[in-house]
Amino acid sequence: MSTKSTKPNSTNEVRVGLIGVGGICAGVHYPGLERIPGVEIAGLCDPNETLLQQRQREWEIDNIYTDSEAFLAEVQPDAVVIATPNVMHRPLILQALAAGCHVLCEKPLGMTYAETVELVEAARASGRVHMTAFTYRFVPGMNYIRHLLRSGELGEIRHARFQRLQDWGPAAIGWRQYKAMAGSGELGDMGIHRIDFAQDLMGPIVAVCAATKQWEERTQTRDGQTVPRQDVEDWVAWIAEFKSGATGVFEMGKLTKGYGPNGDHDLAELNGTKASAVYRLHTPHEILFGERQQPYHTRPVPAEFLTRPGSPRDPQEGDPIRTFRYDQAWEFISAIREGRDAVPSFYDGMRAQAVADAILQSAAERRWVDVPGV
Ligand SMILES: NC(=O)c1ccc[n+]([C@@H]2O[C@H](COP(=O)([O-])OP(=O)(O)OC[C@H]3O[C@@H](n4cnc5c(N)ncnc54)[C@H](O)[C@@H]3O)[C@@H](O)[C@H]2O)c1
Repeated sequence: MSTKSTKPNSTNEVRVGLIGVGGICAGVHYPGLERIPGVEIAGLCDPNETLLQQRQREWEIDNIYTDSEAFLAEVQPDAVVIATPNVMHRPLILQALAAGCHVLCEKPLGMTYAETVELVEAARASGRVHMTAFTYRFVPGMNYIRHLLRSGELGEIRHARFQRLQDWGPAAIGWRQYKAMAGSGELGDMGIHRIDFAQDLMGPIVAVCAATKQWEERTQTRDGQTVPRQDVEDWVAWIAEFKSGATGVFEMGKLTKGYGPNGDHDLAELNGTKASAVYRLHTPHEILFGERQQPYHTRPVPAEFLTRPGSPRDPQEGDPIRTFRYDQAWEFISAIREGRDAVPSFYDGMRAQAVADAILQSAAERRWVDVPGV
């Protein structure tokens, strides 16, 4: 184990290593970190040498590595962001914690609930800051709905619905379509975010009744190569019972024509005893709000909820559907600097995984399943 101090970082300088420099690292983690004063991108690690060199040129980073052990030993970053295929999350998190690093890891945190329990224990024992990249918690509309809920404006939530419907088409989608690399399909890709923000808003889910479907084989890549058929679900739906007594209805699908190519549908609708509120990702700066006998009307998200407090991000900059994601890096770095827990932490990653495992079991056994550990 490292002998690095667990005290708040009083100098404000944080050296961050990026492990896995593919799509989400380039789209979210790098631009989020790069704009925070006092953050240095200390090095990059990825076994794909071509991509690694491309990122080195684009981002002008000196230290690049294909091997994570050598990267951690030689670069000695204060913190790492892990954005690799899901199967690599556990071994890389354990390596990084052992090297004394704070860790922000992509979702799903692990391949199974049991793995995530181990990761929470390891992170807590290390004394480092740990965070799961549940990005949608940072949508301005979500910040505002969380506030409305906690301040009592919606009353008690009785029921809610959560939908993520997209049209990815039938072509192969790489590591995401294999259980051995991803753990699950649409559930771990899109569903796990909705489990997380539903639990953030409404408290723990105690039981689920689920169904899954695999509609496409995905044996052809877009450039005509043949690959092994996928072995995970394209579509998943479940009813959830919350500890509060509320119910939730969830549906996620990657093959929903009408919702593409840029019309991805992402909706969370909470129906409370006083009012209902709707979050829609594609209008992130407004919500829908409706009280009794009142049709839904648009409410702009107040300025104080457009970014996280202190975030260096200008909420009017760029495409608001993308740029809210940079606040995730701000939360991670702020937690390190302030010597506090990050939100959402590995614990939240573990609680979402407990529900995800129960969903897969429920679908396989065609029955209600209790969520473990609630
Ligand atoms: N939070 C979100 O909104 C969100 C969005 C997209 C993806 N993700 C998650 O991010 C992760 C990565 O997804 P992606 O879309 O960027 O995938 P990707 O395939 O584009 O990138 C993954 C990268 O990891 C690299 N890699 C593989 N093994 C590695 C290892 N041992 N060490 C270092 N790098 C390694 C690959 O070479 C590749 O460059 C996944 O866990 C995914 O679920 C999250």
